[in-house]
Amino acid sequence: MRFVPPRIAPPAQPLAGLAFVAQFVRNPIAVVPQAAYEGDLATYERGRRAIVWITAPALIKQVLLDEREKFLKLAQIRLLGPLLGKGILTSEGAHWKWQRQASAPMFRPQELSGFVPTFVRAAEGVVERWRAQPGAVQAIERSTGLFQRSGAWGQLYAIANLPRWLPQPGRRSMASAVRALRAAVGALIAERRAHPGTKDDLLHRLMQARDPESGQSMNDEQLVDNLLTFYLAGHETTAKALTWTLYLLACSPGWTHALEEEIARVTGGAEVNAGHIEQLMLTQQVLKESMRLYPPVPLMTRQAVADTQLGASKVRAGTSVVMPIYAIHRHAKRWADADAFDPARFAPEKEAAIPRYQYMPFGAGPRICIGMGFAMMEATAMLATLLRRARFAPVAGREPAPVARVTLIPGGGMPLAVRLRS
Ligand code: HEM
Repeated sequence: MRFVPPRIAPPAQPLAGLAFVAQFVRNPIAVVPQAAYEGDLATYERGRRAIVWITAPALIKQVLLDEREKFLKLAQIRLLGPLLGKGILTSEGAHWKWQRQASAPMFRPQELSGFVPTFVRAAEGVVERWRAQPGAVQAIERSTGLFQRSGAWGQLYAIANLPRWLPQPGRRSMASAVRALRAAVGALIAERRAHPGTKDDLLHRLMQARDPESGQSMNDEQLVDNLLTFYLAGHETTAKALTWTLYLLACSPGWTHALEEEIARVTGGAEVNAGHIEQLMLTQQVLKESMRLYPPVPLMTRQAVADTQLGASKVRAGTSVVMPIYAIHRHAKRWADADAFDPARFAPEKEAAIPRYQYMPFGAGPRICIGMGFAMMEATAMLATLLRRARFAPVAGREPAPVARVTLIPGGGMPLAVRLRS
């Protein structure tokens, strides 16, 4: 049965002036005009400030790969730099490269499989919390505090490149939250330096990481930067992928049944383990389709640092180039029945035919998500564990609306009814 879950209705005409600002602060993905869902790009210009949204695979490849030295992460660095310092996500050039190379081995599949029991335990913990507070309706995922409304202002200021002295709503409360968070992680590192022990966790591995070329390791500040980066980049994103997936499954009894059968067949009724992950094919197909419709990172942004050309359009230095993953994944000309939920799109032979820069929940090019394998393994293990333990149903009269913050959140939380299995 065809199922079209909640979507954003894009403006038929590009918004301008205050209407643009008001809508951007409410939901930055809702300003992306219809033209971006049907053509190659759409632009917004006001004085010297310009934003271009690109959705054509060829243009995305140009920005993320072929001419990447002309398109830098200036807005992301401005927005997240106060929290994440010069970690992997928020640096450029040589400083980015050595940290990426030093961390890459930690994220190889053979290194990750040891984490599967941790993922399963985390999912079991969620089920236990549900069991401890019975009641029909549970708001599975409440929206998180830090990057809410003030985060949207920050995004607007960074993407529109507004001057830093301009007063910005929420900047001060954000700054003190950032200080507290960095101090807490700093204390963790100091504690570990004082008592090294043998615990093999992410911090231990980061402390051991060396640049393969120079042998350099990370100092305390770089450790804080990257621990917070992995936490911020890895936690919210995977949590949102699972949240939207549970909703889609709650509305699709046929797919839920197919997954339950697959999980029972692959695990034989036992706990999910590392060997099961790649056999859980349908489970992964559902996750991929869920991240197509609700990409946890809904927008990626770069700033042009030189005058250049994107397709037929001239792009001045300083222009923000936004890759709205949400719109790329729902492009009317590139996807059949783009807004409908259909995990069969990711059956192996069909998935192979999807152009590289048309489906990109983890980004693309050299800065593709370093945690992609980690996230897929975590989400698969957790989803399979949750489905072994519980059934989910939508709540009548309450539909979650996708809202872009740093991640794509269900505005107002995710209403789902949970029925635990005995
Ligand atoms: C479903 C889960 C996830 C999604 C959808 C996701 C998405 C993304 C995207 C789109 C980017 C590219 C950003 C850009 O180029 O502007 C990215 C980068 C990154 N992600 Fe993820 N991510 C996920 C999970 C994780 C996890 C689990 C980790 C770490 C444990 C992680 C760590 C990072 C880091 C460090 C970068 C920066 C890489 C670089 O610049 O070289 N992510 N992610």
